Parts: sequence; C-alpha cells; structure tokens
Amino acid sequence: MPTHQSLSGSSDEDLLRRMVKSHAERYGDAFWKFFDAQVAPHLPPRPTVIDLGCGPGLFVRDLGLRYPDATLHGYDVTPAMIAHGRELPPTGATTTFAVHDVATQPLPHAAGTVDLVTMSSVLHVFDEPWPTLAEIRRVLAAGGIFLLHDWIRQPLATYLAYRRDVLGESDADCQRRGFRLFPVHNKYTTADWLWLLDHVGLPAAEHAQLRDSHRIFVCRPA
Ligand SMILES: C[S@@+](CC[C@H](N)C(=O)[O-])C[C@H]1O[C@@H](n2cnc3c(N)ncnc32)[C@H](O)[C@@H]1O
Repeated sequence: MPTHQSLSGSSDEDLLRRMVKSHAERYGDAFWKFFDAQVAPHLPPRPTVIDLGCGPGLFVRDLGLRYPDATLHGYDVTPAMIAHGRELPPTGATTTFAVHDVATQPLPHAAGTVDLVTMSSVLHVFDEPWPTLAEIRRVLAAGGIFLLHDWIRQPLATYLAYRRDVLGESDADCQRRGFRLFPVHNKYTTADWLWLLDHVGLPAAEHAQLRDSHRIFVCRPA
C-alpha cells in the first residue's frame, strides 16, 4: 500500500521534521477549543485513548499533559515516528508508543475498552478504510468517541495555493509534491466521509472545518 512518504517522495525523516514543525499550528487554539467543547465533556476522568498514525507523538504528549491520569497509546507504521514519541519527556499519563500497521493489523485492545480513538491525516491514505473503521468501532467503549480529522477535497488551484502559501512550499516543490499528492489529499468530500462513517456504524454527531484543507468529525458508535 502506498504511504505518504512513497507518494510524496519524502523520506521518513523529512515527514517527521515537517510533522514536528507544523504541530503547534495544526493543534493550536482552534483545535483545542473544538476538543474542549465537543470531546472533553464526554471523557471519563481516567480515559483510555489511542492515536492511530500518531506521527512524532506530540498530540499524545499534549493529551498526557491535559490528562495525567489517562492511559495513552500511540501507534504508527513508521519506526522513526515511534522512536521520536518514545524520547519525549514523560507527562504523568501512562503512555506507550508502538510500531503498528493500523491498515492491516487488528488493534491490540479488547472490545469496548477505549474511550477515545483519534486519527489525524492518516485514513485518506488507506486503499480500503473499512477494516480499520470496523476495528475502531470494535474497541470503542459505550459512549466512546472517534475523532477523525482528515483532508477534504479542494479544487486543484486552491490546493496548490495552500501548499505554496500555507505550507510554504517553493514552486518546484509544488510541482513535484503538489501534483503527486493532489489525488491522495483530495480523495474524499465531507459528504464522502459522512457516508463512510455512517456505513460503519460510527455516525458523526458533530463536524467542523478548523482549516481549509481538513474536516474534523466527532463520531459515536451507533
Ligand atoms: C501526515 S502524518 C500525521 C501524523 C499525526 N497524526 C499528526 O497529525 O501529526 C501520517 C502518519 O500516518 C502514519 N501511517 C501511514 N500509514 C499508516 C498505517 N498503515 N498504520 C499506521 N500508521 C500509518 C505515517 O507513518 C505518518 O506518521
């Protein structure tokens, strides 16, 4: 299956650097305001949370600072990402990072035991999202939440302008990465995501657009 790295021609280290550099902007005030309004009120005081495709682990770290009594798991298929997460300073929360391919392997959790599953900018890459979504639904506790934040379809000109103006890419990089990644990042519309989520029994109770390129969905098991 293609990965972000193989599609963009970036190395693991390059993607890691870009994820770390953009973390504060991607998980900024707008994100936490939304999280505090739509997710936090539904979490138990000692939540179990798993982040699928956790990248460098910085969101898991942020959750640990907010929920020091939580049990947190970050999974990623790229060893360099997991190595980065493991080197982050402890937060108080019980935190584990593991190399795990969430597209092809079952989640290592019993049914109905996870309060929050998060997945940001990962699911659009998968050739076939059903098995992963079914696994997410299996592990979610009653009243649990799946927080999906992912790319939505934009016109080509808007997408290339976003890469140049927001991501700060040069014209050369726009040509190389932009055209190669356009079909990957612009695969699903908001309606497509809603349809997928409905069909797997994880309907979105809320959704919002915090960035032009992405939509965030708060889903609960039907
Ligand atoms: C664009 S990064 C997003 C990282 C993180 N979620 C964030 O928002 O900072 C996508 C991540 O998904 C991971 N990934 C891609 N395919 C995966 C798979 N099949 N299983 C687990 N992780 C995967 C990549 O290694 C990469 O770290």
